[in-house]
Amino acid sequence: MSSKAFNVAAMAGDGIGPEVMREAIKVLRVVGQKFSLTFHLTEAPVGWAGIDAAGKALPDDTLALCKKSDCILFGSVGLPDRDPTIPKEERPERAALLRLRKEFGLFANLRPVKLYKELSHACPLRDDRQGNGIDIMVVRELTGGMYFGQPKKTEEVSPGVQRAIDTMVYTTPEIERIAHVAFRSAQHRRKKVTSIDKANVLENGVLWRDVVTKVSKQYPDVALEHMFVDNGAMQLMLRPTQFDVMLCENMFGDILSDEAAALAGSLGMLPSASLGVTAGERTFGFYEPAGGTAPDITGKNLANPIAQILSAALMLRHSFGENAAAASIEAAVGKAIASGLRTGDIFNPADPAAKKTGTREMGDAIAAAI
Ligand code: IPM
Ligand code: MG
Repeated sequence: MSSKAFNVAAMAGDGIGPEVMREAIKVLRVVGQKFSLTFHLTEAPVGWAGIDAAGKALPDDTLALCKKSDCILFGSVGLPDRDPTIPKEERPERAALLRLRKEFGLFANLRPVKLYKELSHACPLRDDRQGNGIDIMVVRELTGGMYFGQPKKTEEVSPGVQRAIDTMVYTTPEIERIAHVAFRSAQHRRKKVTSIDKANVLENGVLWRDVVTKVSKQYPDVALEHMFVDNGAMQLMLRPTQFDVMLCENMFGDILSDEAAALAGSLGMLPSASLGVTAGERTFGFYEPAGGTAPDITGKNLANPIAQILSAALMLRHSFGENAAAASIEAAVGKAIASGLRTGDIFNPADPAAKKTGTREMGDAIAAAI
């Protein structure tokens, strides 16, 4: 049987990144055999690992590898304890993560939030608020808004008085393209988009609402509703089951996606995809777990590898169009959870079926369930 081959830059980064990446690679190897896919995985340092190896959070060789790869499978970067040792512009969040988003035009960030019914104990909401399950796709704009708008600076306006300036900027095309991503995503789901803005206060909010409404006319099968961001934050806590796709600008999406993630019981369950424009058949993508580096549990075989493994599934779907292979990973994760295996973050001592397990063992179980 002929085998399709893909070049993947595997950048584990800091903290628990290397441990969870190892499990994702383990699972990819098994999926590759089953579906006749060859993954050429090349590892490269990023984050503090990049600083230690080559003096920069995004070493030149790492960036060069990204450029010649089909996509990036990313772990996580950032070690707050070490931050005071270097200027803020050189820290991994800005110098590696934000830089890569901009460099590769990764404007569309997809964060699927799903509460597995077996994990309802880990959700902070009462059972009756969980309804028949929480399943939300947060579509976050990732290369505009306050993260990147200029001017962005801190200046001294008079002796001893500093002024910090961040600028929120969006153009019509930037809003249009992320709106299309949200509507297309909803077409494959429950056909509803809730667009988040602050149109009662911000110029950006008025434009956002206007442009999203216009784009919606091209998707008559999808229902659109608008919601102010403060109400959106509250509705997530009160009635999260009303949401299908939440469409957010960069900063609101950053905040609401963490809030939504808490509903899934643990950040360790949440994968993400950051996509650029599609060229020909392929979409360059960047796939990472939402959870961060978790320095407190690093190196102890305690981290939940599921977010990293599900990020590899998103990679198969969005960059390679290998939907069956992606679905097989997602099903295997479901089986591991149904079997009672739980890393510490999702363990419920009151559940007699729950078996506490480690990072490696969870990865083994998911690989075996492929
Ligand atoms: C995220 C993170 C990043 C962001 C940080 C680490 C720069 O919180 O991906 O949500 O704010 O975008
Ligand atoms: Mg965030």
